[in-house]
Amino acid sequence: MCGIVAAVAQRNVQGILLEGLKRLEYRGYDSAGMTVMHKSALTRHRTVGKVAALDECLANAPLPGKAGIAHTRWATHGKPTAANAHPHHSDDQVAVVHNGIIENFEGLKRELEAAGYAFSSQTDTEVIAHRLADTLAGGATLFDAVQHTVRTLGGAYALGVMSPREPGVVIGARQGSPLVVGVGIDEAFLASDPLALLQVTDRFIYLEEGDLVELKNGGRIRIVDRDGQTVERPVHMFEYADGAASKGNYRHFMLKEIFEQPAVIGAALEGRLGEASALAESFGPEAPALFAQTRQIQLIACGTSYHAGLVARYWLERYAGVPVQIEVASEFRYRHPVVADGTLFVTLSQSGETADTLAALRFAKALGYVGSLAICNVPGSSLVRESDLALMTRAGPEIGVASTKAFTTQLIALMLLTLAVGKGRASAGEQAEIVAALKTLPDICRQVLALDGDIETLAQAFAEKRHALFLGRGAHFPVALEGALKLKEISYIHAEGYPAGELKHGPLALVDSEMPVISVAPNDALLEKLKSNLQEVRARGGELFVFADEGVGIDDSEDDVTVLYLPPVHEALAPLLYTLPLQLLSYHVAVLKGTDVDQPRNLAKSVTVE
Ligand code: AGP
Repeated sequence: MCGIVAAVAQRNVQGILLEGLKRLEYRGYDSAGMTVMHKSALTRHRTVGKVAALDECLANAPLPGKAGIAHTRWATHGKPTAANAHPHHSDDQVAVVHNGIIENFEGLKRELEAAGYAFSSQTDTEVIAHRLADTLAGGATLFDAVQHTVRTLGGAYALGVMSPREPGVVIGARQGSPLVVGVGIDEAFLASDPLALLQVTDRFIYLEEGDLVELKNGGRIRIVDRDGQTVERPVHMFEYADGAASKGNYRHFMLKEIFEQPAVIGAALEGRLGEASALAESFGPEAPALFAQTRQIQLIACGTSYHAGLVARYWLERYAGVPVQIEVASEFRYRHPVVADGTLFVTLSQSGETADTLAALRFAKALGYVGSLAICNVPGSSLVRESDLALMTRAGPEIGVASTKAFTTQLIALMLLTLAVGKGRASAGEQAEIVAALKTLPDICRQVLALDGDIETLAQAFAEKRHALFLGRGAHFPVALEGALKLKEISYIHAEGYPAGELKHGPLALVDSEMPVISVAPNDALLEKLKSNLQEVRARGGELFVFADEGVGIDDSEDDVTVLYLPPVHEALAPLLYTLPLQLLSYHVAVLKGTDVDQPRNLAKSVTVE
């Protein structure tokens, strides 16, 4: 993870780099640092904690200069200390910022120590600084030194490098971690994510794997590919409004993003529906032909995106009649899968840069899948560029580490896939009903979000708890998993999601008055089964919190049951709707507990390391 930003500009870059770091803080926030070229010398500050600490430090001791690199860290090698924070220097001859992991750093470190280099950090990154210094000492240009050095690195990296030997130059390199070039007017920038640079440009070049880039005074940009050939890469206009990266009137990004859901669900559907189906062309011009060949689907994702895939398995089987396999990317990539003819490989990812998901896609390419589809929120991300087909979820930038609107728009995309790839299991009438229901969904979501005050009150019952169980059945089992993930990641309360029918096979032993049990109970075919499972909880003294359809007949006359009623929705779309109150519940519990809602401890938004 970690975030990188760099600039070679006509003006002082400290403010540009600092603003960039603030926008990249979702990628890591345990320490931060900046190096700026001042009078042909490297000047640096590094601080522990959030970017605000670096901001304070710079307010007291500014770093003026027209070229610089900066970094916000998510620790992999070595604790979050100032010495481990980036940029790393080698004898003030080289400064480097790095996102990724250098897997062969121990061997390189031994060689460099034997050659007399002293290490001042526990990081893998410091070997890059010393290797660069070593190569520069032999007379290489900075560009050549980076090109030479990266050939010796194993693992993943996005780099920003500078040296007082070439004061108006910054070199970037990427392999396995994201890096974009921001194209300014007579200025040039680097960042892990375009969002970091929207304050200075809306034109971006997405570097390819193995690319090196040289940024020079006057906005000159030279890109060389992994074979050493100078290449032209297309310049893309960035689509999002810059305001998407601010909290507006909301207290936290997460709350803003929860409340954006009606709008982004509408955007995700825009222009993609027919009368009784979804338009296959929305997935790309080759999609109709590829979907016609598709007999099975393999879904791959991590975390919340994986939960979206679990919901989609129910949909694809029930409505499309397509067999589905699903697995987390970190496991799939090390298996030896047997691929049935006509299997479409589908990845789900908010960021499109998740290391395991990307590796799974690359691994899958040699396995004989009929094609690959990425369902993703970030246009131009690695996953999108490397897949045959792509559908953008159009959620807009999601800054809160806990995924909310990215999940629900993934569900919309997956329902569109279900409708587009269908093999006739659902009748045209059934499909038309789903299409009609999708169109009314933004309004129904607004009605659910209006329950925010009630959910905030409900949250008080959780603030002192240490554990919680989430239950659901059918397509609501993954909703329960997602509810539990949300609660644990932002409130640090231990939570588990279970299929309600599985409770009696073990977890029921945990139920007592200290274990709140949250269940989603839409009025579907499994409702009566679920109600029996909930009785089992009550009989053991458990306290129940149920999100249910009006008229499901759950007796809430006793103190041990609280029911919050949701508006009616088409059965197929209930998993999406029932996710919303669980997001709000986790949010309010976290606020009551006083945790860092948008940047929970130990986590980062974009997981670009394995
Ligand atoms: C969810 O709240 C997470 N923070 C996390 O599980 C996330 O969904 C996962 O890391 C996958 O990310 P991606 O969608 O960007 O690939």
